[in-house]
Formats: sequence, C-alpha cells, structure tokens
Amino acid sequence: MKNKKTIFVACDTTSQEKIKKIISKTKHSKLNIGYKIGLEFFYSRNGRRFLSQIKSKNIFLDLKLNDIPNTCGAALKAIKDLKNIKYITAHINSGEETLRTIKRISGNKYKILGVTVLTSINKFHLKSLGFKNDIKNVVTSQAKVAKKLKLDGVVCSGLEIKKVKKICKNMEIVVPGIRLSGDKNQDQKRVMTPKKAFSLGASAVVIGRSLTNGNIKQNFEKLIDSLK
Ligand code: C5P
Repeated sequence: MKNKKTIFVACDTTSQEKIKKIISKTKHSKLNIGYKIGLEFFYSRNGRRFLSQIKSKNIFLDLKLNDIPNTCGAALKAIKDLKNIKYITAHINSGEETLRTIKRISGNKYKILGVTVLTSINKFHLKSLGFKNDIKNVVTSQAKVAKKLKLDGVVCSGLEIKKVKKICKNMEIVVPGIRLSGDKNQDQKRVMTPKKAFSLGASAVVIGRSLTNGNIKQNFEKLIDSLK
C-alpha cells in the first residue's frame, strides 16, 4: 500500500457476474485497486466458492469478526483454504482476548484491520448504546487497543483519521463512508470525499455504492477526476 493511493471497491452483491463486471471496469495504472468482499457476497450461495478461485492479490474479506475468542479463531481456521485473502476485519469491540486470538491464528497469513465505530453510527446511536464518551473519544480508545495488540491497521471514518493517525503511526488507516460529491449518504452518517480522506492521511478508502450503483465506468471516471 506504500506509494499509490489504495481504493477498495466494496463488492456488495450476491452476483458473481456483477463482481466480474466491477473488477473489469475499475482498473487504473496509477491506483492500487483492491476488492472488498463483505457479508452479502460471502454468505451467498456461490460466494465462498468464487472466492476460493479468485486470482486478484488484493482481496479484503470484510468479515467484521465480533465474537468470543474460540469462535473467531475457529472461524479463521475454517477459511484457511482461501488463499488470496490479504485483509480480514474484526471489531475492536470484540475485546482484547478475541483480537489476540485472531492475531495468533492468522499468523502472517492475513493483515488484521480493527473496525472502530461503524460509519453508519451517529452520536445519538452511540449514546443509546450506553457509551458516555463522544464518537472521537470512543474511536481513540479503540485505536489504542489496536496499537497495543499490534493490529495491522484500523478502519475508521474520515472524521477520525487525524486522531487515529496520532496513535496508530505506521499502521494502515482504511476509511469507508466515502461519497463522491453530490452523492447521497444513504445509511452512512460519517462521510467524506476520497480526496479529503487521502489528504488527511488515509492509506486506503473503501467505496461501494458511489461506484457500483448505475454506470460503473462513469462512476469510476468521476472518482479519478475527483482525485486530481
Ligand atoms: O456503499 P458504501 O460505500 O456505503 O459501502 C461501504 C462499505 O464499507 C460497505 O461494504 C460496508 O460494509 C463497509 N464498512 C462501512 N463502515 C465501516 C466498516 C465497513 O461502511 N465502519
């Protein structure tokens, strides 16, 4: 992920054909393009089989593990046949013991990204869950846990990049909740443009519907223009 900007395209679909189309229409020599496979495709009938055959070297499996240590460790063992996965996500809220187990079982096979407060959560949602601190403070605490456990990176919204960067120096900062200007936020609450996220220090951004809804090629060109 060093020099080129990394864009992870969120392949949120159950269709293998759509994923092939997304891959074929989002190539660029000056960008490092990766593909994020989330729960929708992974749970789909053919998703897992497709993943076992995919050739791309930059696959991000967004499992968002969030369970007890034994279950998360066992889940990782259950996908060991998938050879080309580079990144796996786990909720930092799953706790230090779970994260330690995930690190131990994954060894050097995957990079583990710790997910902080979801980008679809706003301050009212967080308060209703019993959190007394505001979003930035909760994300800061989560980033400290990620640093302490030597995770490879953190997933946070653009609004927390600066805080996370201070704590997680030299770690990857992956930012979802990305919208091209003029696009609707939909269910996302803490959003930012890709250009702003990179300028604040994101090492990668995750973009789903702004690219994959409608004309993928046109959306991709709009993204490239927006980064100039
Ligand atoms: O379509 P959109 O760009 O909103 O998709 C964002 C993607 O990033 C989704 O696949 C979602 O699961 C993922 N994600 C997120 N917020 C997080 C972590 C991951 O939106 N905090």
